[in-house]
Amino acid sequence: MKAIVVYESLWGNTAAVARAIAEGIGPEARALSTAEATAAEIAGADLIVAGAPVHAFSLPSEQSRKNAGGGNGKTPAPDLSHPAMRSWLAGLAPGKGLSAAFETAFKWSPSGATSAIGRGLQRAGYRSISKARRFIVTGGSGPLRAGEAEKARAWGAELALAIK
Ligand SMILES: Cc1cc2nc3c(=O)[nH]c(=O)nc-3n(C[C@H](O)[C@H](O)[C@H](O)COP(=O)(O)O)c2cc1C
Repeated sequence: MKAIVVYESLWGNTAAVARAIAEGIGPEARALSTAEATAAEIAGADLIVAGAPVHAFSLPSEQSRKNAGGGNGKTPAPDLSHPAMRSWLAGLAPGKGLSAAFETAFKWSPSGATSAIGRGLQRAGYRSISKARRFIVTGGSGPLRAGEAEKARAWGAELALAIK
């Protein structure tokens, strides 16, 4: 089974969740940034799990990434070296695998990124096998709320069972 957990992450929180999900799925899974998850890496994937931070109640945009701030001594500079999930999904080649979506956000945020992620994955032919998940951050640049990495690992294990 080829499983890829792909993420966009400005301060590493979504990346940490992605790594925990991949650990939960098992040794056949890898967590890759949107830069690392090239067409060649994705080709033939049986499962794609994709995640992004929530910006302005949705998927990050080029504008929200620019507005992210940081690098001011108080908040670290955001990592903008890998593409937005939005553009990664737009370029996703058609495939036949399964999929699941997640996001990192504040607990209170009324809507998020996962509906757009789910639509992008399904448009490319990856059928959803799970309700989307939100993992909670307690500040704009993190950290993750205590226990979220463990929840991510457990969800990864559930996804692995669902596709066996
Ligand atoms: C420009 C911007 C807009 C944001 N808007 C929201 C929002 O609408 N709802 C929310 O819950 N979090 C919002 N956040 C907080 C992000 O969810 C948080 O930065 C993210 O989960 C951190 O994950 P990362 O380290 O992987 O980027 C916003 C953050 C930024 C930088």
